[in-house]
Amino acid sequence: MEEKFNQLDAKIEEAKLGGGEKRIESQHAKGKLTARERIHFLLDEGSFQEMGMLVTHRSTNFGLDKTKFLGDGVVTGYGNINGRLVYVFSQDFTVLGGSLAEAHAEKICKVMDMAMKNGAPVIGLNDSGGARIQEGVVSLGGYADIFYKNTLASGVVPQLSAIMGPCAGGAVYSPALTDFIMMVENTSYMFVTGPNVVKTVTHEEVSAEDLGGASAHSTKSGVTHLTYGNEIECINGIKDMLSYMPQNCEEDAPSVPYEMGDENRVGLNTIIPENPNQPYDIKEVIEQTVDADSFYEIHKDFAENIVVGFARLAGKSIGIVANQPAFLAGVLDIKSSQKGARFVRFCDAFNIPLLVLEDVPGFLPGTDQEWNAIITNGAKLLYAFCEATVPRVTVITRKAYGGAYDVMNSKHIGADMNFAWPSAEIAVMGAKGAAEIIFKRDIKEAANPEAKWKEKEAEYAEMFANPYNAAARGYVDEVIKPSQTREKLISAFKMLENKVDTLPKKKHGNIPL
Ligand code: HXC
Repeated sequence: MEEKFNQLDAKIEEAKLGGGEKRIESQHAKGKLTARERIHFLLDEGSFQEMGMLVTHRSTNFGLDKTKFLGDGVVTGYGNINGRLVYVFSQDFTVLGGSLAEAHAEKICKVMDMAMKNGAPVIGLNDSGGARIQEGVVSLGGYADIFYKNTLASGVVPQLSAIMGPCAGGAVYSPALTDFIMMVENTSYMFVTGPNVVKTVTHEEVSAEDLGGASAHSTKSGVTHLTYGNEIECINGIKDMLSYMPQNCEEDAPSVPYEMGDENRVGLNTIIPENPNQPYDIKEVIEQTVDADSFYEIHKDFAENIVVGFARLAGKSIGIVANQPAFLAGVLDIKSSQKGARFVRFCDAFNIPLLVLEDVPGFLPGTDQEWNAIITNGAKLLYAFCEATVPRVTVITRKAYGGAYDVMNSKHIGADMNFAWPSAEIAVMGAKGAAEIIFKRDIKEAANPEAKWKEKEAEYAEMFANPYNAAARGYVDEVIKPSQTREKLISAFKMLENKVDTLPKKKHGNIPL
């Protein structure tokens, strides 16, 4: 028996070494952790249970039969994060460059199946040279199997993807199908085709970092939601993010203990500038409204005219969507609509109540926006709000103009409670533009057109640059002082805790993609 035990121990040791000491050293020299080290830092100590440690590939192509590694380049299993079950796969770049083929893919699919059956998040730690070239179409099939599972799991359990090395070719589409993507600066990149192919096809010279590094994807494409300076920060980011999410779509978002105290926030009373065209930072409003240090921003450097993220209010998870007057006056454009819509859909899928802070001058005009389909893209955000059945509360802090008023979680599209601050301006458009259109003839025929315009602008502003017309119709439930916001929101979300709302029976809707 002793001999058999020794054989088992030897196999475990061999599997733990992955591609061997030399390749591990090379991985470390690049500033990267190994697949197992990442899991060690991610999961609660001693909680990891590995599955498929002894799996090997079955290929004989190009001498692969002589190059077998136990585990086939991916470490898979389950464990806990802060006591909550998660499933994890961690690609091992030291084994055939973490490349994905039949057996490797089967291991990933297995944990995804188990995650769906048992209702727990899946975390993918990606570090791979893509499809294993030697295994040909079998590798492509493996990817497709994963894409299919990603899609089936979408909205059932949260799926998080950390990119911790190369992620090229079709490999990028599994992360793209998951809920959130995180990248590590300078050591990770994602692209459909790398710099060499780009050069051949388009004659563009671009580095891997510029083409698909963390900065490119967090600021330009928006593919990545969060970036981190190193892998440990990234791993801690995953843990923080999970703390706001339920385990699956059947559960409520988790909460932390909270004792009510003085919820008045007088600091909020002085944030809105006297001049309605002067910007202010909506993040100040967020910080003063939610529980201390609880705001977890997503997509920080992309489409900064809208701010999205998780937070806690009296210990309970909420998702925030807020216009940002400090960037492009908080206007809605293509990117901000996409960013907001995706976040709303995530929160709705996973029972996370939504808070909207609204200060929006409208949709961004111009050929660039129109020709790139602001109509379709703006409709994404509209659709996402219309369809959301989670508790939904809006606070109009200042401007709520035009179609953007409707889109930003108005009561007309299903919001449960809408508050407005006395500084709110709820109108079809700004007073200056409105006066120019409806008093065009008066202004033209006036002895002093400029003065007439000003007079009519003031008239329009007097009538509409306030929250009281909307309040008179019940479009706004209550006009509140900013300092009351926090206590009003805590009360509103508590009142909505057991909200039940359903959509008409259908196979699925047709969101304007
Ligand atoms: C098999 C691979 C591999 C791959 C890397 N390796 N990529 N083996 N299939 N796709 C192996 C290398 O042979 C090497 O083995 C080890 O991994 C490390 O690779 P290096 O090149 O030495 O590392 P590095 O210099 O860091 O470069 C990493 C890399 C590069 C940028 C990822 O290896 C590379 O460009 N690989 C190919 C990427 C690619 O074109 N993949 C296919 C994409 S198409 P040894 O034994 O020396 O350690 C695709 C289609 C999927 O994915 C479509 C699904 C829809």
